[in-house]
Amino acid sequence: MTRVRAAAGSLLFLGVAPGVVAGLVPWLITGWKSTGPPVWLQVLGWLLIVAGAAVLLEAFARFVFEGVGTPAPPAPTEHLVVGGLYRYVRNPMYLAVAAVILGQAGVLGSWALVAYALAFGVTVWCFVHWYEEPTLHRQFGAEYDAYRAAVPGWWPRAPRRAGRAPSTVRQHGAVGVVTEDGRALVLADGGAMPFLGLGVWQVPDGPECVNAVRWALELGYRHIDTAQAYGNERSVGQGLRESGVPRDEVFVTTKFQPRRDDPVAEAQRSLERLGLDHVDLYIVHWPGGGPTRAWPGMERSREAGYARSIGVSNFGVDDLEQVLATATVPPAVNQVQFSPYEYRKGLLDWCGRHGIVLEAYSTLGTGRYLESGTVARVAERHSRTPAQVLLRWCVERGVPVIPKSTHRNRIAENAEILDFRLTDQDLAELDALDRTGGTDRARERAWWRS
Ligand SMILES: NC(=O)c1ccc[n+]([C@@H]2O[C@H](COP(=O)([O-])OP(=O)(O)OC[C@H]3O[C@@H](n4cnc5c(N)ncnc54)[C@H](OP(=O)(O)O)[C@@H]3O)[C@@H](O)[C@H]2O)c1
Repeated sequence: MTRVRAAAGSLLFLGVAPGVVAGLVPWLITGWKSTGPPVWLQVLGWLLIVAGAAVLLEAFARFVFEGVGTPAPPAPTEHLVVGGLYRYVRNPMYLAVAAVILGQAGVLGSWALVAYALAFGVTVWCFVHWYEEPTLHRQFGAEYDAYRAAVPGWWPRAPRRAGRAPSTVRQHGAVGVVTEDGRALVLADGGAMPFLGLGVWQVPDGPECVNAVRWALELGYRHIDTAQAYGNERSVGQGLRESGVPRDEVFVTTKFQPRRDDPVAEAQRSLERLGLDHVDLYIVHWPGGGPTRAWPGMERSREAGYARSIGVSNFGVDDLEQVLATATVPPAVNQVQFSPYEYRKGLLDWCGRHGIVLEAYSTLGTGRYLESGTVARVAERHSRTPAQVLLRWCVERGVPVIPKSTHRNRIAENAEILDFRLTDQDLAELDALDRTGGTDRARERAWWRS
């Protein structure tokens, strides 16, 4: 349905209007008369017309068949697509229209049409740069900026067909656009968070944690999630070094413990323990002391270079609204309890509209959801395991996951979620497990308030 609406939007906004401009106006200007230019110019003109028309058709087909739900170009959220204001197609279309007018100038030998084509190009350029882009930026904020960052220029690259599965963001609400390899989401500040990470909550500092991190990195994970409160940052750093994977290939998150005073001083301590000079993401672990208390310190940590991106965790819509009202740098990520049982659609949609990537924790219910009959049924259909189905459900919603395990075989199993897709029926059955009523609330109590 999205595809059909997107096609209709595209046809109306991008196809019909430029088509009228390119096709009718020039003929009206010249009064349908040819002034008899040399043959070579007429041939050149026809070639330009045919090439321009082909580009128009190709761009339109690209939009209809590949523009929605594929890794590159990434699909922005539904309202951007359906509006027909789709940069990926719009810019080639404008170029093609200018080519068609120039072609007509050649065929008709009309200098008036050459001037008209130039005027058309300049007008479109001014319109796009001074009106349309700023308007989209105002309307969609960070969401549009992230989209622009991923689809640059006037002649974007052709979409890749391989590796579709992980990047299919079928439901609206997901903010980030997907990197070209389909393995990560682009954050509003330009960072890229891999869909798959290893969580290390409740893993004791020491060999168990070092091994888990090292195994995960050996098995292809490129994202580790720890926290000051977990007490195992030293082992995370050691596992990272022992794995031999270059530092700049791994996305490391740690979390500010809100019972402490100063996020900057705590970031420095975390970096010492981790043995790193920066983390990729530093998040407020929960809204302790109020949602805005830690935020200025988080912004200073980022300014100091201790964290590439900053974010929050366990924040609801009310909490996020308060942070956005005072923030200079908005949170790039909100890490929350998220699974088919805690769909929290209200929160997912809200974060999507405000350029905040939702990241899922406890997707396996800390092990509890692995026994679910529904999940087992879906898993059987795909010859997959329940853990893989629960994790894949998040990825299909454009939500990165950070399952925890200290067993090498399970760490390997949890990594195999980027090479299959759930059907609409699977998704509907899993969605029905939701116990949040589509709100922003988690099923469990706000444990940090107790
Ligand atoms: N921001 C926050 O407030 C917050 C809160 C909770 C969690 N988190 C983050 O999210 C991460 C994940 O959440 P979580 O630790 O609650 O748990 P989870 O990932 O939902 O589940 C982990 C549990 O499931 C088991 N498990 C993992 N993979 C399995 C598999 N393939 N088959 C069978 N059992 C499997 C693990 O056992 P074994 O280890 O024995 O294999 C462990 O008991 C945490 O580690 C942490 O990084 C963040």
